[in-house]
Order: sequence, then C-alpha cells, then structure tokens
Amino acid sequence: MRTHDRHPAPRGRTIPANDWSFASPRVTILQINVREVIVTGCAELLTLRGAVPRRGPAMRDLGVIRDGAIFIRGDRIAAVGPRRRIESLRQTRSAEKIDLGGRVVLPGFVDSHTHLVFPETRASEYEQRISGKSYDEIARAGGGILSTVKKLRRCSPDRLAARASCDLEKFAQHGTTTLEAKSGYGLDWPSEAKTLQLLHKLHEDQPLDIIPTFLGAHVVPPEYRRKPGDYVDLLVHRWIPSVATAGLAEFCDVYCDRGAFTLPQARRILAAGRACGLVPRIHAAQFQRTGAARLAIELQAASADHLDRVNASDVRALAASNVVCTLLPGCGFHLGLPQRAPARPLLDSGAIVALATDFNPGTSPTVSMPMILSLACNQLRITPAEAISAATINPAYSLRVHDRAGSIEVGKYADLAVFDVADHREIPYHFGMNLCSMTMKRGVVIHTKNS
Ligand code: NIG
Ligand code: FE
Repeated sequence: MRTHDRHPAPRGRTIPANDWSFASPRVTILQINVREVIVTGCAELLTLRGAVPRRGPAMRDLGVIRDGAIFIRGDRIAAVGPRRRIESLRQTRSAEKIDLGGRVVLPGFVDSHTHLVFPETRASEYEQRISGKSYDEIARAGGGILSTVKKLRRCSPDRLAARASCDLEKFAQHGTTTLEAKSGYGLDWPSEAKTLQLLHKLHEDQPLDIIPTFLGAHVVPPEYRRKPGDYVDLLVHRWIPSVATAGLAEFCDVYCDRGAFTLPQARRILAAGRACGLVPRIHAAQFQRTGAARLAIELQAASADHLDRVNASDVRALAASNVVCTLLPGCGFHLGLPQRAPARPLLDSGAIVALATDFNPGTSPTVSMPMILSLACNQLRITPAEAISAATINPAYSLRVHDRAGSIEVGKYADLAVFDVADHREIPYHFGMNLCSMTMKRGVVIHTKNS
C-alpha cells in the first residue's frame, strides 16, 4: 500500500515516543510528542482555499492573506489565518517559530507530468536541433525516445535511483512537493517493472510524494516495430492487468501522436487500463491533432497533456469537461517550436488548466516549476495568479490528491514553498534564477537557502 494512503508520520523526522508498555503487560500506551510549528512573516500567504478544481475567473483567486500565519501539528496544517489571530491561539504559544521575514508562501508545487526515471541526458540531440535537425528526424536516425530506452534497459536500478534522487532534490529546491512520474523508457516488462518499482522505492525513501503512471504505450519498442498490434495486445492483456494487480501505478498514459500510438490503439489501451482501475491520462496533440483530446473526454481521463495542436472545437469540448488540460510550455521552449497551446481560449472558456514541467531528457529537461510559470505567463499569456492555480490546486485535482495537497487549508499536508519575494507576481516575473528560499514537506523543512 502506498505510504500517503496510510497518512503516516512524516518521513525524515524522529518523533519521540515513550513506550509505557512495562506498566501493564496487556496495555500499550504510546505517548507521542507531535511537533508544533507556527510560520509567520508571510508578506503574502497564498492559500488557494475554496472550490476544487479551479476554472475561469476563480483561477485568479489565490485566497491571499496578507501578513498571514500557519500553525502546523505534525505533518498537517492545523490553523491558517491572519497572524494576529493565529498567534492568539493558545496552542500556538509553545510552538516552534519560523519567521519568513516578509516573503511569499504558497502550497508546494504539484508537478503532474514528469518522466523522472531515465539513464542520461540527450544533450547531443539538443546541439543537433540547434543546427537545424527536427525532433522527428533525430528520432528516425536512432535518437529520441528509443535511444533512452536502449540505455535504460542496460542501466542498473542503483544508477537510475542515484540520478532520480539527485533530480528529486532539485525539484524540492524549486518548490515542488508532489510529483507524478511515468514509466515508458523500458518498454519491455523487466524494464517497465524496474522503473515502477523504483518509483515506489523513491516515494518511500525521500520526502516528496511520487505518484506513478504506467506509460508502456510511450512508443512501439523496436522488437514490435513490424507488429505494433501485437504490442498493443501485450499491453492490454498482460502488462496493464499485471501493473494494476501489483499496485504498481495509479494512472495509465498513452502517447497518441505521429510516430507513437494511433487513436484506436490509444482507446484500447486506456480502456483496458480503466477496466483495471488505472485512471487514464493522455499525451494529446503535441505534434499532430490526432483526436486524442476528444478521446480524453470520452474516457473521462484525469488529464489531457500538451494540447499544442487542438482546434477551437476541441477547446470548447475540453472546457465543458472535467478533463484537466495540462500545458507543458517547457517543450516548445526547449524544442524551439512556434506552435503554442491555446491557453487563453482554454482559460477564457472555463477549462480546468494545469501546468507541469514534463521533465524528460528529450523535450523538457527542467525540474523548475518557477521557470514553467515564467514561460506560461510570457508565452501563453496566462496571468501570474492563473499560473499559480495551474501549478498547485488544479494539478492536485488531476492527480486525485486534492484532499491532501494543492492548497494551504486545515487538514491538508503542511507542504509549502516559500519565495524570496514580497509579491506573488514576482515568482514568474523573474526567470533563470531560483528564488525558492524554503520548501516544507509534510511539516518538515526539506530545503532552505540563505539569500
Ligand atoms: O512528453 N512526447 C512524448 N514523451 C515526452 C518526450 C520524451 C522524450 O523525448 O524522451 C514528452 O514530451
Ligand atoms: Fe510527457
């Protein structure tokens, strides 16, 4: 069972427990001293409280409390409000104090689309693209996703874990506290299982919450190049049921695009996943409009991601649905593509919009949600407030963790990102520097930077 389903004590912290069981051989009383913390000095406390998910004008309402404070008991938020009110609560008097000195605090970012586990970067492809080669040309010449697959299959779990752990530390340094992570660079059973098992181990061993997605349908592996239908059969009849039975993933994703899976194949795979309890997500309309966005609606997917090539009628259909439209502006930036997702029409027509890094070695090698916010504002014309909703509460909804993450509200995890600015608009305004000065995960400070 996954740790966050059990609501355990936060990891990485010792809770003193006095075992009084010697008093009676039959009764065990555990006296646990839960740590209490009061956070003050919040120039702006962005609570993101209220309706979930956010659509339309509600995306601009960050629930800001000026000079706010947060009272934390153990891993949870116990009270939030104006500093004077929180400080006057009897319980907060003996609490440990963290004074942020006039900074902005918001819920830790929820990055709802990453390919966390991969063996190495593809910097040579970056250079080739700068010299004029396209992503597709490079893939056809033996690079791209399949070159990462080849290397991941040979890579030991320890080496993969070491790289992913370093990257997770960087996610935390940029204010991310929860992330989704996909398999999809294995594409044979041992390597897909190795990736998903590693995600579970990482979830247990380090502070960030990792939510695993099975992306066996990333591209057709080389051994099935001439018989892609057989690979789809294998996914549908063998791998998806095995992943679900072993509890290895919560979501099932398909890359439905040219050079990957067709619409009918994606429908079969995602429907099989859904039948086994894996909720669909879909890479849709990144390079070509395949109809994948409509498929996401038809299958009540949690999320349709990329959406760079959807048309006006797709936008209307998405806006009328509960599918989260996850925009990934890091890809267009890194690949140097002019085509952009219609973010403004999506937002203005009431779609549920989220933003994510799509951290991966081919199209978006960044862990930085603040950078994604800058790109979203500058290139997609998303306002800073909308971008913050799209990076916290809406992705938490798309990952089905909005009961515990994505906002600063009583009962939720004390997951916080603190920025060294006094106005939340400065988070996307600055770019190319990391202004995240503190990250807290489940009540534990996991990153600080003196600046
Ligand atoms: O989301 N488009 C498919 N998958 C990734 C790219 C993976 C890669 O190039 O390694 C994406 O952009
Ligand atoms: Fe992706």
